[in-house]
Amino acid sequence: MLKGKKILLCITGSIAAYKTATLVRLLVKQGAEVQVIMTEAATNFISPLTISTLSKKKVLIHIFDDDTWANHVMLGRWADVMLIAPATCNTIAKMANGICDNLLLSVYLSATCPVIVVPAMDEDMWMHLSTQRNIEHLQQFGNLILPVVTGELASGLFGPGRMAEPEKILQELESFFTKKNDLQNKNILITAGPTQEPIDPVRYLSNHSSGKMGIAIANECMVRGAKVTLVIGPTNQKIPNFNKVIQIQTAEEMLQNCKNEFANMDVAIMCAAVADYTTVEVSKNKIKKNSSTLQIELKRTKDILKYLGSIKKENQILVGFALETENEEQNAKEKLRQKNADFIILNSLNDKGAAFGSNNNKITIFDKDGDAHRFELKSKEAVAIDIVNTILKK
Ligand code: C5P
Repeated sequence: MLKGKKILLCITGSIAAYKTATLVRLLVKQGAEVQVIMTEAATNFISPLTISTLSKKKVLIHIFDDDTWANHVMLGRWADVMLIAPATCNTIAKMANGICDNLLLSVYLSATCPVIVVPAMDEDMWMHLSTQRNIEHLQQFGNLILPVVTGELASGLFGPGRMAEPEKILQELESFFTKKNDLQNKNILITAGPTQEPIDPVRYLSNHSSGKMGIAIANECMVRGAKVTLVIGPTNQKIPNFNKVIQIQTAEEMLQNCKNEFANMDVAIMCAAVADYTTVEVSKNKIKKNSSTLQIELKRTKDILKYLGSIKKENQILVGFALETENEEQNAKEKLRQKNADFIILNSLNDKGAAFGSNNNKITIFDKDGDAHRFELKSKEAVAIDIVNTILKK
C-alpha cells in the first residue's frame, strides 16, 4: 500500500530515535521511498550511517552541507507526507511557534504536503500545559498527531509519553493513504461556531460554541480530498486554509450564505450553534441602565438545517447536530425526522468533558434507516474521523 509513496521521515533527539531504524526498514520493505532528515540532537541517539544504509539515501542534517544547499522548499513538495518521529517537546514547541533554526524546521514551515507528528517525551513534559497547548496549535494547523503510548519511560517512570511503535506508525500511514482520497472532488459545506445577534452597538446574544468541532470535521474532509466551504461564526480558533471560508456574525448571514452555497454541495454538515432567536430591533445607541428591569423583544430565526432539508435533492446528504440536556435520544430522532436530515449527531451536555468549548466530545449518530452508531469520549479530531467514516459507510 505504500509502494512508491514518498516519505520524508524527520528524526529528532529523543531516545525513541533508536526505533527509527526499524521504522525505515519497514517503510522500505513496503516499497516506499524514504528521505530522512535528522536534527543534530538526533545524531546522538542513532547514527546517520545506520539510517542512510537502511534508507539507501544520504541523511540530510544541515541546510548547508559541504558547498551544497539542501532545498527545503522542494523537499516539502517532493514528499507525499512529512512524518516527524520521534517528535520531541522542543521540536513540537518550535513548530507551534514558527521557529526556523534547523533544516527540519525550515522544511516544516514550507511544506505543502500533509504532516504527521509522532510525539515522544517524558510524562511530565507531555502533560505540561505548554506542550498540550503546542499540540493543539499543530492540530489547528491541520497536522495529524498520533497519540503517545502509556508505558515505561526512559526516566524509569511509568506514564504517557512513549512514541508509538514502528509497526503502529506503519499501520497509521497505511490508513492515512487509503482514506486520503475517499472524498476526492466532493463539495462539502460545513457550518461552525456560534452566531452573535446584536442588541445595540456594543452588546449581543450568543452562546458558548467554540467552533472546534466544525473545524475538526472540515479538516478531516479536506485531508480526505474534499473541497470544503466553511461558514463560521465568531471564533478564537485558528481557521486552516479551506477552499472557501465565509466568516459571518448573525444567523441571518449564515442562512444567506448557506442558501448561496448549498445547490453545488454533495454534503452539508450543520455543526454551528445557530441562535434560535434574534432581536426584533437593534438599538441604534447603547442602551442605558435607566430602569431596574429591561425587556428585549426577540423573534425566531429561520432554521437553516430545516430549510436545507426542505430543498435538498436526492443525491445530497444533510447532517445536523443535536445538543441536548434532556430526553436526548428521543429529541435527536425527532430532529432527524422534522428536519429531513440523513444523519443527526447527538451530543449531550450531561456527558462530562464533552461538547461546548472542550477538546473532546462523545457522540451518537442516528441515521434515517433507524440505526444508532455510538462512540466513546474522544478528541474532537477523532470524533471527526468517526463522523466522516459513518457518513461514507452509508
Ligand atoms: O433544533 P436545534 O437547534 O436543536 O437543531 C440543531 C441543529 O440545527 C444543528 O445542526 C444546527 O446547526 C441546526 N440549526 C440551524 N439553524 C438554526 C438552528 C439550528 O441550522 N436556526
